[in-house]
Amino acid sequence: MKITIVGGGYVGLVSGACFAKTGHDVTIVDVDSSKVGMINSKKPPIYEKGLEEILNETAGKNLCASTGYDSVADSDVSMICVGTPQGEDGSANLAYIKQAASSIGKELKKSLGYRVVAVKSTVPPGTTENFVRPEVLRASGKSVDDIGFAMNPEFLREGIAVFDFMNPDRIVVGSDTEKAGEIIEKLYSCINGDVIHTKTTAAEMIKYTSNAFLATKISFSNEIGNICKALGVDVYEVMKGVGMDHRISPYFLNAGAGFGGSCFPKDVSAIASIAEGMGLDPVLLKSVLKINDAQPLRIVEILENRAGSLKNKKITVLGLAFKDNTDDIRDSRSTPVIGALLSRGAHVSAYDPMASGSMKKIYPEIEYCNSPSDALRDSDGCLVMTEWPEFSELDKEFSLMKSQIVIEGRRILSVEDREGICW
Ligand code: UDX
Repeated sequence: MKITIVGGGYVGLVSGACFAKTGHDVTIVDVDSSKVGMINSKKPPIYEKGLEEILNETAGKNLCASTGYDSVADSDVSMICVGTPQGEDGSANLAYIKQAASSIGKELKKSLGYRVVAVKSTVPPGTTENFVRPEVLRASGKSVDDIGFAMNPEFLREGIAVFDFMNPDRIVVGSDTEKAGEIIEKLYSCINGDVIHTKTTAAEMIKYTSNAFLATKISFSNEIGNICKALGVDVYEVMKGVGMDHRISPYFLNAGAGFGGSCFPKDVSAIASIAEGMGLDPVLLKSVLKINDAQPLRIVEILENRAGSLKNKKITVLGLAFKDNTDDIRDSRSTPVIGALLSRGAHVSAYDPMASGSMKKIYPEIEYCNSPSDALRDSDGCLVMTEWPEFSELDKEFSLMKSQIVIEGRRILSVEDREGICW
């Protein structure tokens, strides 16, 4: 099939590349001409395991990128994968969705056959039906007999997004008509995964609910972790026992500094703000966010309890990315931690295998080191914030510190007598 993907970010690029890998003819449209140039020259603008190999195989053959929307008229499916940044009140900003919908609509004026416009971006329930559909129909001058609408959320984890795309737990296809739903299902015919058909609004809600539930599991584990630490019980042992119940499952029960990334904080805030906008009080979702905001600051308090005042002390932060195997620092738990350290007058030295460049834009004033040893030398305290596997091998490096106080925000170290945020 012919597909146009609008938006060459994490979701659009990975989905486009994977659709091309499974044999479709894909055009990725992005306003950023440097990104378009990189994709066409087989260089992924982001790091994703396996992505470069797919670009090498498909770019210039059945995958290309463009700044223009020309491919839309001819595409069986045009898929919107643009960002929905968080507004100040926590709600999702739909400006890019609107732009994409009207540009697709204008091109569809020229189309001859039946076309499907699908939304893959995470959007508030009702957006495809009440916002995208009227905008595309208005701009194209066509009717629902000519264009079908679908909502096909993604569940990709950064770092292993290609694997997740190719091995989905389920494929959610929300559509306004059976015909549109069948065309979207056909896109995935080479991929093994159960398909569930719903209305577009239910598909939008499935995405928010999945992320809200996973975030709830993490905040729940963190609250239990804080209680376990006070009791002197190992929360990882507790959650192992709890997760063996098949009704609970062992995943996403790892206590620590809380969740970051481009999805969980933004999506939980968005769904809470949608609820409040309808006069509801989403107490549970608000608590999930409250626990997550407080958790990183607990590690600074633990450090202060052990090291005393942090004024003029050198504190090492190991790990800046929001999780391991990525250079992404969006909503990383390290950001509020560094902020709290600086506001207490500490000097911060940091190390991350991939994310120093990104963090430099937020905190240019701290010291960025090329190795854990450089960051740890003469330090008065160390906070381990990201679960990078290489940190599990650290041992003698800690003896370079002036005072060997090491506290983990993620359970990763293998040194004895380690202290963690909830253990
Ligand atoms: C997430 C969802 O998993 C994915 O389905 C969705 O489409 C986008 O958001 P991602 O943000 O890439 O993916 O990362 P994920 O691996 O889910 O981790 C999110 C955050 O939760 C990270 O900060 C991670 O460290 C944290 N986390 C995860 C925990 O604190 N404990 C856990 O047990 C699991």
